[in-house]
Amino acid sequence: MRIATPPMGWNSWNTFGENISDQLIVETARAMRDKGYLAAGYRYIVIDDCWSLRERGADGRIVPDPAKFPRGMKALADDLHAMGFLFGMYSCAGVQTCAGYPSSFDYEWIDAQTFADWGVDFLKYDFCNFPESADGRNRYAAMSMALKATGRDILFSACNWGTDEPWRWMKALGAHMYRSTGDIQDNFISFTDIARSQLDNLCMSGADCFNDMDMLTIGMYGKGNVALGKPCTDQDYATQFALWCLCGVPLMLGGDVRNMKPFAEELVRNPRLIRINQDPETRPPMVVHRGRVIDHIPDENGCTWHEHPDCGLTLLRHLSGNEFAVGWFNFAPAQAGVPFLFADCGLPAGSGFGLRMTDAFTGEDMGLFRDWCHQDVPGHGCKVALARLEKL
Ligand code: GLA
Repeated sequence: MRIATPPMGWNSWNTFGENISDQLIVETARAMRDKGYLAAGYRYIVIDDCWSLRERGADGRIVPDPAKFPRGMKALADDLHAMGFLFGMYSCAGVQTCAGYPSSFDYEWIDAQTFADWGVDFLKYDFCNFPESADGRNRYAAMSMALKATGRDILFSACNWGTDEPWRWMKALGAHMYRSTGDIQDNFISFTDIARSQLDNLCMSGADCFNDMDMLTIGMYGKGNVALGKPCTDQDYATQFALWCLCGVPLMLGGDVRNMKPFAEELVRNPRLIRINQDPETRPPMVVHRGRVIDHIPDENGCTWHEHPDCGLTLLRHLSGNEFAVGWFNFAPAQAGVPFLFADCGLPAGSGFGLRMTDAFTGEDMGLFRDWCHQDVPGHGCKVALARLEKL
C-alpha cells in the first residue's frame, strides 16, 4: 500500500489514556469534521490502548470492552467511514499491552483478521511486555504479513520506541511508519529532545515509511495523560508543530479536538505548515547550522543556555516546485539571533540569486534576502519561512 505523505490524524492516548469510549470517538470525529481538521488533512482516528476486556473471548479473539464500546468496533468504524475518516486501532507485539490488556504475541493472525473484519485501516503496534527470548524484528514482520494476509489495506504503524534502530529495517518488513523514540511528554524538553535526536535519522524517512516522532501534545497545556514537568506554552506548541512539519513526520494530534484553544486549533490547521509537512517529495530537512547563535539576552537568573547547551538550529528543506522551507529554532529560554548563511546550503554570494521569503505562520511577505537572513527568535521559539530563488 502506497503511503505517499506523512499520515495525519488523531490518537486518543495523550489526552485520554484509558478514558476512552464510543461516545468520545464519535464526538471527536464530529469535531474534526465540523471544525475543519478533516479538510486540513487529518483523516485517521486512532483508538490507543485500553479498548478491550482483560481476557480474550472463548474463540481466542480480543473483545472490545462493552462498557466503553457497547456497539462493538464495526459499527463505530462504519460511522467513521461514513464521515470520511479512516479508522485506527492499537495492539502490541508483546504478551500484554503496556496497560496490561490482551496483546498479539502468538495471536498475530487472529488479531489481524479481527481488525480487518471490523473495518480497521490503521494498526498501531506497540512493544511492551515482549518476551526476552523472542525476536522483535520477526514479530513485527509477522504482524506486517498477517495484515497483508487479510487483503485489506491497513497502515502498519510500528511502535517499538527506536529499539534496535528501526529506521534501518522497519521499511523492509512492510511498516508504513515507526516510532523512533520513547513517549512524548507535554513539555518543551521532551519534544525538542525527540526532534533533535532524529535529525540525523530523517534521511531514512520518506514516502511509504515515515519516522514517527510520536503524537503531538499541542493544545494540552499540562492536562491529560502525558503531563510531566513544565507544561508547554503557545510558543512551545508553535515550535513543536514547526519541527514536526519541517521534519516531514506523521502529524497525529493528541489534544482534545472538541475543545481546543483557538491558538492551538489555528496552529495545527495552518495550511502553509501542513503543506511543508505534506510535500510530495518527502525529503528530509538539511541541517544548515546546529548550535549557533548570534547573540542572546540572559534570563532573570543571569542564566542563558541551561536547558540545552546547543541552542540554535537552522533547517532548510527542499520542497517540490522549486520551493524551500526554512526553519530557525531557538531552544534556549532567552531570545537569540539564529543565523542562516545562504552559502551553507549551496547559495553562495556570487550566484546572482537571493531568496524571497514568506512567513509560514502568517503568510506575510518577509522580503527578498541576499547572502544571509538572521532571525531574532524568542526563547523556545521559531520562525518558519517558505522561500523561492529570485534573480537579484
Ligand atoms: C506506549 C506507547 C504509547 C502508548 C502507550 C499505551 O507507551 O509508546 O504511545 O501507546 O504505550 O499504553
